[in-house]
Order: sequence, then C-alpha cells, then structure tokens
Amino acid sequence: MIPSVLPTYNRADLTFVKGEGVWMTEADGRRFLDLGAGIAVNVLGHANPTLVSALTEQAQALWHVSNLYNIPQQQTLADALVAQSFADTVFFTNSGTEACELAVKMARKYWFDKGHPEKVDILGFEGSFHGRSSAGIAAAGGEKLTKGFGPLLPGFSHLTWGDIAAVNDAITDTTAAVIVEPVQGEGGIRPMEDDDLRELRHICEEAGVLLILDEVQCGVGRTGKLFAHEWAGITPDIMMVAKGIGGGFPLGAVLATQDAASGMTAGTHGSTYGGNPLACAVGNAVMNTVATPEFLSDVMRKSGLFRQKLEGLVASHPDVFEEVRGTGLMLGLKCKALNMDVVNAGYDAQVVTVPAADNVVRLLPPLNITDDEITQAVERLEQAAIQVAAQKD
Ligand SMILES: Cc1ncc(COP(=O)(O)O)c(C=O)c1O
Repeated sequence: MIPSVLPTYNRADLTFVKGEGVWMTEADGRRFLDLGAGIAVNVLGHANPTLVSALTEQAQALWHVSNLYNIPQQQTLADALVAQSFADTVFFTNSGTEACELAVKMARKYWFDKGHPEKVDILGFEGSFHGRSSAGIAAAGGEKLTKGFGPLLPGFSHLTWGDIAAVNDAITDTTAAVIVEPVQGEGGIRPMEDDDLRELRHICEEAGVLLILDEVQCGVGRTGKLFAHEWAGITPDIMMVAKGIGGGFPLGAVLATQDAASGMTAGTHGSTYGGNPLACAVGNAVMNTVATPEFLSDVMRKSGLFRQKLEGLVASHPDVFEEVRGTGLMLGLKCKALNMDVVNAGYDAQVVTVPAADNVVRLLPPLNITDDEITQAVERLEQAAIQVAAQKD
C-alpha cells in the first residue's frame, strides 16, 4: 500500500525534533552537528533568536495579506535586495522552482514585448538543477529529473558544463537567455571559473541574450559574498534566489534589471503567498545579519579554516576521499568510497551531510558555525571516514 506521504524521497530513519544553532536533536536524544542546514537553507542556524523574534512579532501582528494590498515587510526586503545587488526590481516566490518559472517567463516576455516573439529558447548546462516544476526540470534537462514527465516544456537545450566556447555556437536567432548556477550544488559543488563567468557574460552581451543566474543554493552569503557572481565582477540580467533568503521560512525571489523586467506589467504574473508578511519579516532579519561586510568576511575566514582541516582529512583518508572542492561555506568532499556510505557513516558519527551528484558529499553548514564547531565537525567526519574505510577492508 502506498504510504500516506507520497514516497518521492528515500528518507534516512532520523527524526529531528529540536534545533539550536548548528545542532539538531533526534527523537532519541542524540545531538547531531548539522552540516546540511536543510540543504543550504538555515543560513543562521536553527532557532536563531533574531529570526524567531522577527517571525513571532509578525505572527502576532498579521500573518497573511494578499498581494492585492501593500505589504510593508515585502517593500523593505525588496528595497534591501535592490540596494545590495545589481537588481532594480524583485518578485517574491515561495521556493526556488517558482523563481525558475518566473525567470523563464520574464526572459520570454522580454523578447515578446521587444517585437521578437521567436526568441524563446533557453540554453542551460548539464549537471544543473533548477527545481522540480515543468520549467525547472526542462531547464536542467537531466534524465533523472525529466524521464517519464514528457512532453517537456519546449525550448531548452544543454551544453557541457564549463564549455563556454560552445555557448557562442549554440546561440541562434531564437535564443532568449542562458541559465546557469555560478556554483552547481546538486551537480556536485562545481564552481564555474570566474573567467568563464566573465566570458559567458561577454558572449550574452555581444549576442544580445539575457543571462539568468540561479543563485538559489549559492546565494545569500554562502560563498562569502552576498551573491556568488560578485566574485567574478559581473552582473546578470535576471537572478533566482531562495533557500537562504528565508533562513528556513519558505521564501524565494527573482531579481532583475529594469530592462529585463520590462515585460512584467500588472496582471502578467502573481502569487498568493509569495512575499507574505511572515516570510518577508524573516527575510529582512536574514538580510540585516548576512548582508554586512563583517559577516561575509567571517564566512571567508571560516571557509579557510574548514577547508584547511578538510584537506588534512582527505590527506589522511586517501582511500575514502579524493579532494575538497567548492568555495566559501559551500564545500564538497569528492569521494573515492560511495558518497552515500560516507553520509550514512556520518549519521552514526552524529554529523549531517548531504549527497550530491559526481559522488560528492556536500558540506553546507549554517554560516554562523563557530570555529570550535568546525573542529568538531571535522572530528565527526573523521570518525565517519574510519568507519567507511573499515567497511571497505
Ligand atoms: C540551484 C537550485 N535551483 C533551484 C532549486 C529549487 O529550489 P526549491 O527546492 O526551493 O524549489 C534548488 C534546490 O535545491 C537549487 O539548488
């Protein structure tokens, strides 16, 4: 008989009942160190007092109001995102995949309104992940996501990751946009080289094609800049954000330039919940903490410390790990053993990590993890590695 919860996940047999900072307590009382953060969501850890009071104060005032009316918390958050980024305007969603839907619609509407209704095609890269909606799976294109769900939304094609030269050849008169994650998350923590991102921006500019960046996983301080593309010194036309911006409360956003957003006039798009007062109250509290030079430089300092310790771990377990990859606090352990064996041994050592493609174990801790917690995290990963090595023998 089918379970009452649709069985689309292979869940670990763990039930977390409480969280505090980087720690989660299992129903049996064991404390786990959380290096997953709900897959790059809880940027300020669990039960962060500032976020808890922002949410509870808003809950006591007004939970929900339709986008038919002014929402001051939404206005404040949009103003903050515009002030802190390339963007001139923001639309709020509840998730990353909804942000993908709007990014695709916005790019197509842009060209339609400019008198080029033929420009509908979107170029993406293999190994990408843009969510589970019809536009999201078509944009990513991988068989694992798309098989059985045809007919897929038309107009998407995919290039080899890192092959920027191929973009030029792939652009045609019907190309509307290129979509890319500056750091692939699900694809196995694969950062695009800064030079490649700059080259991609240049190609899009020359060809008159919009650049959509998916910063759902790598944005909101994760790489030590508020948004990952800042490292390359470029700006997109449209950007998808979610996960970290809500710190654990469902919230996403599409940021865009005035020009790219020019087709999105009244009545062309909407959302019942997107940008509701509760979500935006939390989003504002996240931005107030994360979007500061001190916080972001501390992410980089901790990244250096974490990385150095992980390099040591890889060097002492060459049979289990191959390399450390990633940037900021978006790190990955490329494994020689099966990545799922490492994740499972991590559960035994009471450390939570997340598997990704390319046999990688993702480490995406809350950005306010302390130095001491980084030390404890690596000790637990070491215990996991010892267990995996013993299983291999
Ligand atoms: C890069 C990227 N884009 C889009 C999504 C989809 O976001 P959501 O699960 O909130 O719909 C994800 C989720 O993992 C993601 O990592």
